[in-house]
Amino acid sequence: FDAVDIIRVKRDRGTLSPEQIDWTIDAYTRGVIAEEQMAALNMAILLNGMDRAEISRWTTAMINSGERMDFSTLRTPAGLALPTTDKHSTGGVGDKITLPLAPLVAVFGVAVPQLSGRGLGHTGGTLDKLESISGWRAELSNAEMMAQLSEVGAVICAAGASLAPADKKLYALRDVTGTVESIPLIASSIMSKKIAEGTGALVLDVKVGSGAFMKKLEDARELARTMVNLGTDAGVRTVALLTNMDTPLGLTAGNAIEVQESLEVLAGGGPADVVELTIRLATEMLEGAGVRDVDVEAALKDGRAMDKWRAMISAQGGDNDAPLPVAKESETIYAQADGVLTGLDAMDVGVAAWRLGAGRARRADPVQAGAGVRLHAKPGDVVRRGAPLATMLTDTPERFERARDLLIGAATISPEGSRPEMSLVLDRI
Ligand code: URA
Repeated sequence: FDAVDIIRVKRDRGTLSPEQIDWTIDAYTRGVIAEEQMAALNMAILLNGMDRAEISRWTTAMINSGERMDFSTLRTPAGLALPTTDKHSTGGVGDKITLPLAPLVAVFGVAVPQLSGRGLGHTGGTLDKLESISGWRAELSNAEMMAQLSEVGAVICAAGASLAPADKKLYALRDVTGTVESIPLIASSIMSKKIAEGTGALVLDVKVGSGAFMKKLEDARELARTMVNLGTDAGVRTVALLTNMDTPLGLTAGNAIEVQESLEVLAGGGPADVVELTIRLATEMLEGAGVRDVDVEAALKDGRAMDKWRAMISAQGGDNDAPLPVAKESETIYAQADGVLTGLDAMDVGVAAWRLGAGRARRADPVQAGAGVRLHAKPGDVVRRGAPLATMLTDTPERFERARDLLIGAATISPEGSRPEMSLVLDRI
């Protein structure tokens, strides 16, 4: 095969053969197809799409670029078989749901092998959040991961280098060539990792709205359907929830402050939207693993989920009793009018938290554990002129300048009596 011929096929709206797809992914992973050729092919795919058979083959080729994990032999220390279930979010602002969710599900005897990522751009990364806990380790060997799943039932760790290596290269390239927002490329990227991970059941949290890759409900539905088809065809029991990302989840966007908020949820409190989505996703994850009619909420209220969390954190070297890092500097912004807060733009808050130091501009940059945005009001709240709306947190106060106007602009205050659109779960596929 020849890379240029393959680019021409997609450029001219043709269909790639299974052999062409296998060769492309393999040759790119081995460095035979150049970055600029893959960039051109990605752009042709973004503009002209792929059909169902092409997406399926592309995903399989990405899985085959690395190792597949196998949890079929997983047992508890007492020798009981352990089913597995996992969740993946397409990325949002203030989305700390994985933190309370993984231990909560594990309470019910279903193992959660959660391979997570780091933040890039305005969306936070689960591993960056957990690394604000003193001593906590993201990198585990496969053997350590298996042992922790058997003993604790939940693990949140980094995907090893050998899991879908084609996606690692491809995602980094898409990130800098304007080719992230393609349904076939997002679906194959996410599902290749989740199928290679070997989970038995999967719940996809497909974000829709200003802070998400998919801004429109129809696009999010198509992405969800594409991913559910890929999972189902690979033998993974897969469902998708479409959930609102017009406004951040909870009252925090950052790293340590999101861990703090997750601890509130695990202690039976926390913001209503975070609790609602955690319970809904836990119920779906358990159903996928064949566990029905359990009282998920009770496990948050009575401390069982918190006990699992503490076991999960200490198994990875984390000190549950160490204080979380706190930003050195803070500055609060205030409401500019009386009324109802009808909007608090997720993208603006995400970019503000990122600029304050919670995220990174390049892959190798460090993040500030204490940085981020703490919200004092949520859409639907009545606010008075001069009341605090949000507090910016950072170790480097020169960053306030870059976040202040964004945060002020993020808030929409409407006349009293107005009602914002606030459904959290928009659809299920
Ligand atoms: N998350 C992924 O892992 N891949 C994408 O393409 C987009 C979001």
